[in-house]
Amino acid sequence: MTERILIADDEKLIRWSLRKNLLSAGYEVLEAEDGQQALEMVEDEGADLLLLDIRMPHKTGLEVLAHMAEHNPEIPVVLMTAFSSVEGAVDAMKRGAFDYLMKPFNHDEVLLVVQKALHATRLQRELALLQQQHQIEFGTEDFVGKSEKMREVCRLINKIAASTATTVLVLGESGTGKDLAAKAIHYSSNRADQPFVNITCSALPEQLLESELMGHEKGSFTGARERKRGLFEVADGGTIFLDEIGDMAAGLQAKLLRILEEKSFRRVGGTKDLQVDVRIVAATNRNLEQAVREGAFREDLYYRLMVIPVDIPPLRERLEDIPLLITHFIDRFNVEFRKKTLGLTSDAMECCEQYGWPGNVRELRNVVERAMILENKEFLDLEDLPHALRAPFESFDGSGSTGRTGTAAFELPDGGYGLREMEQQMVRQALEKTEGNQSRAAELLDISRDSLRYKMRKFGMF
Ligand SMILES: Nc1ncnc2c1ncn2[C@@H]1O[C@H](COP(=O)(O)OP(=O)(O)OP(=O)(O)O)[C@@H](O)[C@H]1O
Ligand SMILES: [Mg+2]
Repeated sequence: MTERILIADDEKLIRWSLRKNLLSAGYEVLEAEDGQQALEMVEDEGADLLLLDIRMPHKTGLEVLAHMAEHNPEIPVVLMTAFSSVEGAVDAMKRGAFDYLMKPFNHDEVLLVVQKALHATRLQRELALLQQQHQIEFGTEDFVGKSEKMREVCRLINKIAASTATTVLVLGESGTGKDLAAKAIHYSSNRADQPFVNITCSALPEQLLESELMGHEKGSFTGARERKRGLFEVADGGTIFLDEIGDMAAGLQAKLLRILEEKSFRRVGGTKDLQVDVRIVAATNRNLEQAVREGAFREDLYYRLMVIPVDIPPLRERLEDIPLLITHFIDRFNVEFRKKTLGLTSDAMECCEQYGWPGNVRELRNVVERAMILENKEFLDLEDLPHALRAPFESFDGSGSTGRTGTAAFELPDGGYGLREMEQQMVRQALEKTEGNQSRAAELLDISRDSLRYKMRKFGMF
């Protein structure tokens, strides 16, 4: 990314020579003739660094510096001064300027100071990002939520973390925070300094997953050239997170049950029982009860896992968490994308609170992320939200829409509204939201898959 430098000086010649110097070093350059204009340009176009003359009309360099220190402290300011006002410059350093340059300039020195200032701010930003990343990775990221339902979840997580329970099942729709919950359980337990091992059961074919989990002896199957320790051994003393447990193959389910009950297992091709002490946190967004009924999931394993279930409610059942989560993600992306967004307009917020969020917290995070990448606004507005979110809100003025599951009470506008047109829009949106997954689209519309297909044909969608 080319870095943008704003030069503010009332002398045209000085701006001209600085500009030439900075452009040839590969920077992007903006010019302002006075302090007021400089502030406006920072506001409108943004800058990574300010080169400020101290004596300027309208607002002096020191006034601009004071304003920047208060409103944009992360943008470094370098003051430029004629020889006679060195003391003013020293004073300015005390008030937060990064450095100062004496006129007439030595151009190499200008470049050096500019590089130093940009480098220092880049480091600061990277540090903030690293700290954030560290928090996410090590599960200390806050579980944001003040709704009674989320408080309940947090209380339960803390109790589990403090207990000796070795099996936990985390349930919830996609994007509700199951990964986060699993990490929270591990990192707030006394196992925190032992490994947290995360494996997605649906990602590997059965045989590979088995050898991944339990390890194998040399020569136990083609390709097993060495003895390999499995994750159960690696995670001894810590936690194994078995994600998407609902997709685990039947043969492995039986072996897992044995491990849970006997706390021991054998490597593939091995004859010795190995003892381990691991806590297993399993998670799924599937309806396991139904999978049991359909014979896809072992009933005995289901009951073994269900001893301690943690049920994370979908976002639409805890609307009061929405503003909090939005603020949380805005804070995070402000750091990551160097933005200064403060929040949402009340229209946009209302729209978010009325939406059903089928993709839950992950969808909300993506919506905020997308808006902040695309826009540079203090307050994100309706138009910055994806069409799918605001469409029902705009056409129906938001009145009376409860947002979901067939109970939505749309109000017919005075001018009327084409029913067929609306039906077509809803079908299209359901398919967009589910990326063409017809079963899920039918679920969203609360109709059968057959009638969805009938409607799609009616509207010439395939
Ligand atoms: N309560 C919360 N507070 C802050 N961030 C959250 C919260 N819940 C979820 N998130 C964030 O939302 C995103 C999705 O969460 P996560 O990956 O834990 O969902 P999941 O339930 O595991 O989804 P899937 O079923 O698709 O695996 C992550 O970026 C996570 O950090
Ligand atoms: Mg997950």
